Amino acid sequence: MASKHLQANDRLELMRLMVDAELQSLIDDEIENGAGEVARLCGEVLLAGGKRLRPLLILLAYEIAGGFDSEEVMPLALAFELIHTATLVHDDINDQASHRRGVETIHSKKGLAKGIIAGDWLFVHGFGLGGRYDEKIVRLMSKCCADIAISEFEQLDHILDLKTSPEDYLEIVRGKTAGPFASGCEAAGLIAGLSDVDAKKLGHFGMELGIAFQLVDDLLDLRGDSQMGKPRGADVLEGKMTLPLIHALTLSHGNARKRLSQIIENFCDDDFDELMRLLNRSESMHYAEILVSTHIERAISYLNDFSDSDAKQLMLQITDYVIERNR
Ligand code: IPE
Ligand code: IPE
Ligand code: MG
Ligand code: MG
Ligand code: MG
Repeated sequence: MASKHLQANDRLELMRLMVDAELQSLIDDEIENGAGEVARLCGEVLLAGGKRLRPLLILLAYEIAGGFDSEEVMPLALAFELIHTATLVHDDINDQASHRRGVETIHSKKGLAKGIIAGDWLFVHGFGLGGRYDEKIVRLMSKCCADIAISEFEQLDHILDLKTSPEDYLEIVRGKTAGPFASGCEAAGLIAGLSDVDAKKLGHFGMELGIAFQLVDDLLDLRGDSQMGKPRGADVLEGKMTLPLIHALTLSHGNARKRLSQIIENFCDDDFDELMRLLNRSESMHYAEILVSTHIERAISYLNDFSDSDAKQLMLQITDYVIERNR
């Protein structure tokens, strides 16, 4: 069993290296063609060591759907990684983050204007790659990018909104994070020749996995694992209403709720331990963990209709990884 696990990890690592090499050559070509500083800066963040989860999901979804020529789907995988990186460059401006993937963010080293334009450059190149496919795929991509913008707006409108509901939270997460997982998997299925109905099953898989992924991201922010490369509680500092906070605010009463509200509204690192005590008192971290498992189980159920294959096993390996990851 252990060696099977290891083999799966080796295969995933190989796929990751393949994606890295493609991204490297894309940036090299751009620099060679005179794209200059913007390509260099984008290359730095692109190649600084992301997990490549979206391209891996796309390559595997394509194989699960019966596709056998990875060159056919690679431009889509790269497109989603470029678009994802574009959203990170812009997200870090919005969230005033100084580092991403262990390197200094573009806006902090080169200023806001260059950060914005670099994000646009990545978006445009992502769409250039995705635009090689049928209109249906292009529509999926543009819809998911528009939905990211819609939910980032919603998230801004809920900053420090202590009445934010779990439904508001889930709606935001579907748009900003899970939507691209869903569209990537669905588009990969279509490219492999699946019917719309079957490709949608891969889309639902991606949506559920993406929700679990963001829930874990929000839990990690509160756990403050040193491998995250950013300070604990950065979300609380931003005023972002994540599920553990929403859950605790719903369940707490009287003085506990009053104190919780105060801490959220004027958060500083000194309050961190007290915040965690309040969250644990209402079992809010545990509640979010249970939801992670629920969404992972749902995700896996959407793969039931696809026959067993190496690619499906690797996809299941990724679902395990999403639960266990610490960065
Ligand atoms: C970060 O995504 C943004 C979220 C959706 C939480 P990842 O955690 O996949 O970032 P990289 O690509 O590995 O850097
Ligand atoms: C993910 O949200 C942002 C996008 C999908 C654009 P976060 O703001 O939580 O991402 P991190 O935590 O900075 O990576
Ligand atoms: Mg953000
Ligand atoms: Mg952020
Ligand atoms: Mg986060």
